Amino acid sequence: MFEIIANETLAPMLHRMVVKAPRVAKARQAGQFVIIRKDDESERVPLTIADADAANGTITLIIQSIGLSTQRIVATPVGGHLRDVAGPLGLPTHLKKWGNVACVGGGVGTAVLYPLAKALAEVGNDVYAIIGARSKDYVILENELARFAKAVYVLTEDGSAGQKGLVTLALKDMIEGRLPKPDAVFAVGPVPMMAAVAEATRPAGIPTTVSLNPIMIDGTGMCGGCRVSVGGQTKFACVDGPEFDGHAVDFKSLSNRLKMYRRHEEECRVGLKEKP
Ligand code: NAD
Ligand code: FES
Repeated sequence: MFEIIANETLAPMLHRMVVKAPRVAKARQAGQFVIIRKDDESERVPLTIADADAANGTITLIIQSIGLSTQRIVATPVGGHLRDVAGPLGLPTHLKKWGNVACVGGGVGTAVLYPLAKALAEVGNDVYAIIGARSKDYVILENELARFAKAVYVLTEDGSAGQKGLVTLALKDMIEGRLPKPDAVFAVGPVPMMAAVAEATRPAGIPTTVSLNPIMIDGTGMCGGCRVSVGGQTKFACVDGPEFDGHAVDFKSLSNRLKMYRRHEEECRVGLKEKP
């Protein structure tokens, strides 16, 4: 059993939870994730390890409560417990000194981006964070990123915070030299955003890494649930990723696979609302 040490609301339907998991906290590297279960009957939920404190034996998870399982997880109060925290899973981020690195986060994807950006800064890169959200209330981790980034560019679709527009607007400013030119780009967010980022960097040949979040079940490469097509080859995000070369990912097939599960998630959500 894994104790909940903190549980706060970051944005609508988005919680930051600190969980006691000493072995994971000690072993984890940037880019890795855990699979958690609230109890024996719950679904397994893959979540990026947003941060870790090895001395205190805790990990930080940022959880969007969009389905039945995640709603039950975020409803667990401080002092309550999760049944399983399995990990760390997945390959760590390949860290090297690129120079200027644009770290692009879309909405909730910013939570996954944060540990990558922090690790890239720690190995000596100049990190420029670009974070986008629907509106002011959905902008997350701006202050946390500002602690190590050279600059944080905020964009909202309605203009209620930062510049009005999508993340690709600031990225184009960087690529075209109106802001510091990137030597590498890391992008995490909705699939259409990662596809748009990859298309923006492709003509300039800027190495672009994306972090994928297909449906995961076992997290060990056995079930095939998380398969993605990269460079014409089938890869499993849980063991070969979750980070891949954005110029080689087949975003269309990823998008189609994610759509297959939307109806089921919606039915679960409705089911929860109907409970007395
Ligand atoms: P959202 O739809 O509100 O988008 C957030 C921002 O991403 C937008 O404001 C915009 O700046 C950018 N964006 C979106 N579509 C774009 C496009 N076509 N071109 C350029 N920029 C674009 O995001 P949300 O509701 O917070 O996120 C939900 C989605 O993120 C879900 O689909 C979820 O699966 C995905 N997600 C992905 C990861 C990952 O690891 N890749 C992690 C968490 C969530
Ligand atoms: Fe089963 Fe990756 S989650 S193979």
